[in-house]
Amino acid sequence: MIKVEHLSKVYGNRVAVWDLSFDLKKGEILGFLGPNGAGKTTTMRMITGFIPPSSGTATVAGYDIAEEPLKVKGEIGYLCEAPPVYREMSVKSYLKFVARLKKVPRSRMNHCLDRALQLCGLEDVAGRVIGNLSKGYRQRVGLAQAIIHKPAVLILDEPTVGLDPRQIRDIRSLITELSGEQTVILSTHILPEVTVTCSRVIIISEGQVVAEDTVEGLTEGLSKSETMTLRVERTPEGFQGALAALDQVVDVAVESPNRFQVRLEGGDATRALLANTVVRSGAGLLEMARSTATLEEVFLKLVTEEPEGEVA
Ligand SMILES: Nc1ncnc2c1ncn2[C@@H]1O[C@H](COP(=O)(O)OP(=O)(O)OP(=O)(O)O)[C@@H](O)[C@H]1O
Ligand SMILES: [Mg+2]
Repeated sequence: MIKVEHLSKVYGNRVAVWDLSFDLKKGEILGFLGPNGAGKTTTMRMITGFIPPSSGTATVAGYDIAEEPLKVKGEIGYLCEAPPVYREMSVKSYLKFVARLKKVPRSRMNHCLDRALQLCGLEDVAGRVIGNLSKGYRQRVGLAQAIIHKPAVLILDEPTVGLDPRQIRDIRSLITELSGEQTVILSTHILPEVTVTCSRVIIISEGQVVAEDTVEGLTEGLSKSETMTLRVERTPEGFQGALAALDQVVDVAVESPNRFQVRLEGGDATRALLANTVVRSGAGLLEMARSTATLEEVFLKLVTEEPEGEVA
C-alpha cells in the first residue's frame, strides 16, 4: 500500500532524512518512533506530498508521489503536527467543508460526517465553535478531518499529543479499530503507544533508520541482558567501577547520585553477585529491582549509542 524507496530530504547542509526505505502492506500499522528532530514529520510531509523529497521516491496505493500528487492526496488522511483547523467554524461545518474538499459525494456526506463525529467522540460538541474547544478536543477534530473520507491510508503525526489519559486510550483504541481496513503510519515518541497499537516499528534517529522490526522482535534482541535499578544510601569511593568490573555486568549508568542502572547478563547468578558486591562495599543497599521497560531500553540504546554494524 505504501512503498518508500531511498527517500532523502536535505535542507541546505542539514540532512533531515537520509535514504529511508520501507514497505507497508494494506491494514498494517507502522509506528514511526524517534526523538525530537529525528525526521518523522519531514518523512510524513514527503509521503503526503506537502514537500518534495531531495531524492528517492514513494508510492501510495500505487500512485507515485511526484507524478500523481493529487491522486496520492485523495488516498490519504493526514493529521499534521499542528492541525490548521479553522477556529471560527463549528465542528460540523468545518468537517463538512473538509469532506467537500476531499470530494465526498453529496449522497454519502451525512454518513461520513456522523461516522467521523462518532469515532472521534465529537457528537456532543458538533455544534460548537472550534476555537472555544479545549486543546484535546481540537486534536480530535484534527483526527476527524483525517478520517472523514475513509482514506485507504492514514498518516498521523503524534496523534495523542496534548490529550488526557482517557482521550489517549480512546484514540489508541480508535486506531486499533481502524487497523485491518486502513493502513496507518503513526509517529510518536511515546513508547507505550507503539506497543499498544502498532504491528511494526521503525526507529529513526538523525534522519536514518536504526531499527525496523515487530515490537516483539525489537525487544527480543535485548532479552539476553536485563537491567536492574539500584538505589543505595551512599556511594563509596570506586563503587561504580567495582560494579562495572563484575563478570557479566555489561554496563553501569548513573541515573541520579545514588541511583544506578546496571545492565547484566547471566540471570540469577549475576544478580546475587551484584547484590553481594553492593552489600560488601558498604554502600547500604536500599533497593534493587528489575526494570521492565525493555522497548524503552532498545529505543535509548539505538538513539544514543553509535549503532553497531550499521547497515549501509
Ligand atoms: N523547513 C525546514 N528548514 C530547515 N530545516 C528543517 C525544516 N524542517 C525540518 N528541518 C530539520 O529537519 C530535521 C528533522 O525535523 P522533523 O521535524 O522532521 O523532526 P521530527 O522527528 O518530526 O521531530 P519532533 O519529534 O520534534 O516533531 C530537524 O533537524 C529540523 O531542524
Ligand atoms: Mg515532528
